[in-house]
Amino acid sequence: TFVVTETCIKCKLTDCVEVCPVDCFHEGPNMLVIDPDECIDCTLCEPECPVEAIFSEDELPEGQEQFIELNRELSAQWPVITEIKDPPADADDWRDVKDKLSLLER
Ligand code: SF4
Ligand code: F3S
Repeated sequence: TFVVTETCIKCKLTDCVEVCPVDCFHEGPNMLVIDPDECIDCTLCEPECPVEAIFSEDELPEGQEQFIELNRELSAQWPVITEIKDPPADADDWRDVKDKLSLLER
């Protein structure tokens, strides 16, 4: 299973969604997540994210382990997204900011 991590928060560039063959990205107010029950580990989305927010659950960066459960929990609540949309106007300001979990909107 692939996991969207903290870097996506407030960036939400959505380049990832169009390559997924099984439409398993779900959209929240300021982040996307992957439904772990739908992901088939095709790996296509990982290189599509310009800010490298997507990792295999086996290769998560230190401190990002909690996003495994968050992707599971939030994908059950948020709608599927399959088409690229414009990112937030200030997305560039947030791409290198760390510790954004408190900014996650549900
Ligand atoms: Fe979709 Fe493949 Fe990425 Fe899983 S690894 S979320 S199936 S594009
Ligand atoms: Fe987020 Fe990267 Fe997709 S910023 S929306 S995981 S392209």
